[in-house]
Amino acid sequence: MLELKSVNLKRAKVETLAVPVCEDGDIHNDQTLKSLVAAAKAKAEFKGKAGDRLTLFQPEGTKIERAVLFGVGKAEDLEAETLRAFAGKAVKFCIKAGLAGVTIATPAAAAIKLDAALLFRAIMEGGCLGNHIFDRYKAKKETKPLRKIVLLSTAAQKKAHAGLVGSVAAVCSGSTMAREWVTTPSNDKRPPAFAGTIQKAAKAAKLKVTVRDERWLKQQKFGAMLAVGQGSIAKPRLVTLEYAPREAKKTVVLVGKGVTFDSGGINLKPSGSIETMKMDMSGAAAVAGTMLAVARLKPAVKVVGVMPLVENMPSGTAIRPGDIIRSYAGKTVEIGNTDAEGRLILIDAMAWAVKQYKPDTMIDLATLTGACVVALGEKIAGVFSKDQQLADAIVAAGQATHERCWQLPLPEDYKELLKNDFADLNNISSGRWGGAITAALFLSEFVGETSWAHIDIAGPAWAKKASHYCGAGGTGFGVRLLCELIEELRA
Ligand code: BES
Ligand code: ZN
Ligand code: ZN
Repeated sequence: MLELKSVNLKRAKVETLAVPVCEDGDIHNDQTLKSLVAAAKAKAEFKGKAGDRLTLFQPEGTKIERAVLFGVGKAEDLEAETLRAFAGKAVKFCIKAGLAGVTIATPAAAAIKLDAALLFRAIMEGGCLGNHIFDRYKAKKETKPLRKIVLLSTAAQKKAHAGLVGSVAAVCSGSTMAREWVTTPSNDKRPPAFAGTIQKAAKAAKLKVTVRDERWLKQQKFGAMLAVGQGSIAKPRLVTLEYAPREAKKTVVLVGKGVTFDSGGINLKPSGSIETMKMDMSGAAAVAGTMLAVARLKPAVKVVGVMPLVENMPSGTAIRPGDIIRSYAGKTVEIGNTDAEGRLILIDAMAWAVKQYKPDTMIDLATLTGACVVALGEKIAGVFSKDQQLADAIVAAGQATHERCWQLPLPEDYKELLKNDFADLNNISSGRWGGAITAALFLSEFVGETSWAHIDIAGPAWAKKASHYCGAGGTGFGVRLLCELIEELRA
């Protein structure tokens, strides 16, 4: 579906050509592209400014049926994200027009600050992700994804970057899988069902899969996780996915919060907060999506995905505020609020993962707190780690992929806020402020000496509105980030 191709634009028949155009400099070397840009800029309505768009039908001297020019702003401001957005817009434009494919012109690396690998990758990602449509629940499918996305390159570039197509496709496929799982309604992904879905996808990818049920969790004393799940008739599952290449020297464990619906429990969420809580398994979806990509990327590091899956429901069997539970690690926790359930399932999964896998690095992803969304908004994740190198690597991977992360602190003295008169810890803070931090500090009590980072994705896991290369709903946030990071951690 994705392809790098060397094409002579003067002679070749092209159905639809998408061309990025800067408002100042010329970013193309090809003569045909240069004359298309000149022809477009001769029109009053097109200057190459961000958001400009112009279609030229059957441009003179070519066999191009239509050339669609997209303004991308100033050449010096052009970043990988500008190109992802351009490619996403181009693909969405073609989908809307009912076309079957698109040929995308790529800027000359010398004309912009990005090298060829980065610019090809960005355009492939934007195109691939923008081509994803989630219409499983619609009887009438209104639009169809493109069957072919071709990027123009020189013959030498095609040779040099042949591996890119496969790796970008792997990452984007993990990302769109995660999106679909997040957007899938909770009635179709209760823990046993979601575990089965992950299992099936992972088996097809040749990953080692293990699904543990409630009986196993009881035997192993996953007291915190079971407490959250006890209000639902759909029982908890613990899913693990393993990728273990022979040459691996290090182990990375990824843990994802998998609350398939967060009603809040007995501390029921009010209208306005509850409607989108099918997305509360976005951490698990990102971890599963990453594992599927890893199976194809084949990095030289052992990667394990751990996904505790539960449904948080109020009922006659649900946990109550004031209940005291004993976690897998042995520490007791008083339930100050049944809506602070994510941290409960994570502490059992993480304490177990540390014991089971002795990871060199452990990272958890979780839609953990509304407070993190208050702090950083809906597009930036919060990162917490005492290992500054790890935090820096995550922030850097966020910059590279535009799955943006911002570090927040883990101040020792705030641990005071989690003290409890009767149990070892309270699951909520006694104070009103800094809820993302106190949640992260709560988790930090259960990871031992492991180099660990927590990423709160409560904001960016879900999009109310579509953007250039992502539809409304689950965003798949975390998959591209983690794939990039694993690439870095390998060394
Ligand atoms: N799943 C929510 C956090 C959340 C909020 C995710 C908004 C996505 C968007 C989490 O389980 C929760 O309810 N957290 C509470 C914690 C509080 C009770 C200490 C919150 O953030 O209000
Ligand atoms: Zn909650
Ligand atoms: Zn939750």
